[in-house]
Amino acid sequence: MGADVKRREFLLTGSTVLAAGLFMGVPSVRAAESEMHVFTAKDPANKSLSEQKHVPVIEVPERLTKGVPFPVTITVGEVIHPMVKEHYIDYVELFVDDKPAGRATLTPGQNAPKVTFFITVEGPATLRAREFCNLHGLWEETRQVTIG
Ligand SMILES: [Fe+2]
Repeated sequence: MGADVKRREFLLTGSTVLAAGLFMGVPSVRAAESEMHVFTAKDPANKSLSEQKHVPVIEVPERLTKGVPFPVTITVGEVIHPMVKEHYIDYVELFVDDKPAGRATLTPGQNAPKVTFFITVEGPATLRAREFCNLHGLWEETRQVTIG
């Protein structure tokens, strides 16, 4: 019986360590991302070439219906960004009202920097697209959507 108790204690301790490791890993990744500077277009009507290549372009249908899935297509950017192994878009993310709504990891030399997520909204919402360039960092664009 004593050995059984010790085994149970060991299992509990092992689980606790694993859970703590997972718990500690997630915040450190988020902390690293939250410390990154997020670039946006300084003057959206007059973008520099770098901004044209990095600011995500968000496309949605003209009319949206409450609760009905619709496509959100994110392209990087107005001038298509390179996707070669030396210079590429690592990932594209979508947030709806600051909640994660999609993330796509891209492969240089294979994917184009363009992804589509299907989402639903229950009312007016703010879409935020982010992309990470391996050389030029984190960029974002926002777009308001309304129902009807
Ligand atoms: Fe870049």
